[in-house]
Amino acid sequence: MSIVVYLSTGLPIKDIWFHNFGWVLASYLIMSPVVLLLARMYTASPPLLGSWGGWSVILFLIPLYYARFHWDEVVKLREAFNKTVDLLSNTIDAKDPHTYLHSSRVEAIASSLARAYGLDAAQVDTIEKGSRIHDIGKIGIPDAVLFKPGLLTEDEYATIKKHPEYGVRLLAPAQDYLSETFDIIKYHHERWDGRGYPEGLAGQEIPLWARIVSIADAYEAMTAGRPYQKAKTPEEALLEIEDLSGIQFDPKLVRLFRGVWETNPTWRDREVFLRLYSSKVPSLESSSPPSSEPEVETSQK
Ligand SMILES: [Fe+2]
Repeated sequence: MSIVVYLSTGLPIKDIWFHNFGWVLASYLIMSPVVLLLARMYTASPPLLGSWGGWSVILFLIPLYYARFHWDEVVKLREAFNKTVDLLSNTIDAKDPHTYLHSSRVEAIASSLARAYGLDAAQVDTIEKGSRIHDIGKIGIPDAVLFKPGLLTEDEYATIKKHPEYGVRLLAPAQDYLSETFDIIKYHHERWDGRGYPEGLAGQEIPLWARIVSIADAYEAMTAGRPYQKAKTPEEALLEIEDLSGIQFDPKLVRLFRGVWETNPTWRDREVFLRLYSSKVPSLESSSPPSSEPEVETSQK
């Protein structure tokens, strides 16, 4: 299977194997000492409990079984939560059939960047979830504005700029479960120089999660292109991100971004990403434009 993925993507076979099967190795390594301990308990002479070594093994396995039972419940709860996030993503898809690919690629980019920054697994998970639903507020934007094929008027752009706040309002009932992703939804259009929206936060005032997703969102939009703007190559998009370091983006994150970009991740080239996710990607024959932010007419004049 790893070889098939290698042949279709050209990614390092070692990375593919570890990404897909590394958990098996980890599982064997963790379980080995437990199995050895059980074997020693069973063969202990004299037996640790009663006249048969199996009693001590059974006694040891009872709390293990309950720990496993509770872990299963935690996993089920997490799966239910992930399905809820999927449902929200699908809701965005229903609005714009191109958004699934956009959100998925933003998720992949932001995840790489978060790992490079040194965030732990729980924080990376938060960023991944937030990336997938960062534009959920676009559900509240009229189609005539969201899907306008040309440049936007100033009023229309003002409407678009409300989507982060709409997103927060939409998800308010789930705040207890999505609290950290709220920062991503609300602040992913803030800029390092303070000229972003909705609050005009600057520099470190912008939550780290949102700074990470902001770069991922911009790179994906640049390489996706628009009906009236040719898509940039990965190299061109990287240079533009670097040109905007300290202006739109956090300079430290931009440096890290180049580092992860150079390792040839699956997301760097949009075509490679498309092939990998082709089974999940909706038809590209829709006439709707990509989900990237439309440009404002007045800013072009
Ligand atoms: Fe957005």
